[in-house]
Amino acid sequence: MQLNRPDLLQTNAFINGQFVKANSGATFEVHNPFDHELLAEVADCGKAETEEAIQHAQDAFKIWNGYRAAKRSRILRRWYELQLEHVDDLARILTLEQGKPFTEAKGEIKYGASFVEWFAEEAKRVYGDTIPAQTTDKRIVVIKQAVGVCAAITPWNFPNAMITRKVAPALAAGCTVVIKPAELTPLSALALGVLAREAGMPDGVLNIVTTNDAETVGKVLTTHPTVKKISFTGSTEVGKILMKQASSTVKKVSLELGGNAPFIVFKDADIDAAIEGAIASKYRNAGQTCICTNRFFAHADVYDEFVKKLTKASADLTVGNGLEKGTDIGPMVEEDAVKSVEELLKDAKSKGATVKTGGSRANDAADTLLFPPTVLADATSEMDLFRTEIFGPIAAVLKFESEEEVIKMANDTPYGLAAYFYGNDYAQIWRVAETLEYGMVAINTGSISTAAAPFGGVKESGFGREGSKYGIEEYLNIKYLCWGL
Ligand code: SIN
Repeated sequence: MQLNRPDLLQTNAFINGQFVKANSGATFEVHNPFDHELLAEVADCGKAETEEAIQHAQDAFKIWNGYRAAKRSRILRRWYELQLEHVDDLARILTLEQGKPFTEAKGEIKYGASFVEWFAEEAKRVYGDTIPAQTTDKRIVVIKQAVGVCAAITPWNFPNAMITRKVAPALAAGCTVVIKPAELTPLSALALGVLAREAGMPDGVLNIVTTNDAETVGKVLTTHPTVKKISFTGSTEVGKILMKQASSTVKKVSLELGGNAPFIVFKDADIDAAIEGAIASKYRNAGQTCICTNRFFAHADVYDEFVKKLTKASADLTVGNGLEKGTDIGPMVEEDAVKSVEELLKDAKSKGATVKTGGSRANDAADTLLFPPTVLADATSEMDLFRTEIFGPIAAVLKFESEEEVIKMANDTPYGLAAYFYGNDYAQIWRVAETLEYGMVAINTGSISTAAAPFGGVKESGFGREGSKYGIEEYLNIKYLCWGL
């Protein structure tokens, strides 16, 4: 791998400030999803290394939490600057292990770094409270304290940003962290470890346990009594297991789980703007994003126009090697991901969906993970893709007649992460925004992600918020001091 800073490519786990092999010496392979090339053999850690990392994080907590907030803030700020200084290398590593186009990968590195910048500032703004007491002989004071050692279990779809979004607020609050990155994309995480050390983060403050045995390491992280908080981004299915395990020691938990985002186009919407938003919200990361649109709903009066324009805009996108200029959509992450998209397509077609563009692997090559943007017209709520998180580049468009009908369909899911809609009637905009059962609602825009806003869901999409002034609260305990006079 050609990097300006070759040392950013690490293959061993990062524990107590050192890159270390697994105790057994075992490794697992990391491949480029575009051409299946072997990129690295990474330390395959288990229970013992995870417990060691937790112990080091606990020892480091005494030091890190003892620092002035301004000192933690300065180290985080330096970490942020280093990420931007090395944005090209970090993006290259990300594209190679995950597949997304290089410009999109650069966007992710900047997005990821923005959480570090944001929480470097927030570190200095952990305010307490005073509360008027009910009797004259008491004073009530509220202080906030770091929860302690935190665990972050992060996904492959954002190998950088989902780490910084969890770790930056934790570190800002004074917590220390053990990260378990996804087995498909551990290299981006390890590169962050290199830069954390360079930024002056003391040993043990940030630990990265690489593993191919997510179940074992996840179990240790969610049941170890020293770990006080677990933050997970991934599927609802796994989130439920982790939550159950975390209950054994009553840990604080944040879960950012699956989604089933509706994208509603009302009849008075600006259709061209809606198409722009649709492309942004559907095909980001080849459709492999929790907040990607899952179901498009277009009003009957504009249905044909919307489908026609969406088909044209989708067909114009270039699918290919993320490292090549001009690529809009990279490969999907692995064979199972493509198979699951193929299953959903097969089901939809058998129930009457019409393929307007795309519909099978690029060049019909059996061994490629490239899947072109696929637009399906005549979609209905009977199709599996109505209830399943597609996590791929399929845009299925349903038709609706009334606001009441579309809201009912949009909310007809156990998920509640992100929702999008386009319209111009202000009364309707407020009504719909308030009625959608989602943690995040995008109105006349297809992009909602920013460090300044609270990211998170309701219902089975999880709980807890990442980013914004709320994000740091997840890593703090409230303590009430009652002073008798
Ligand atoms: C996700 O897929 O969960 C993250 C998307 C984002 O932060 O924009």
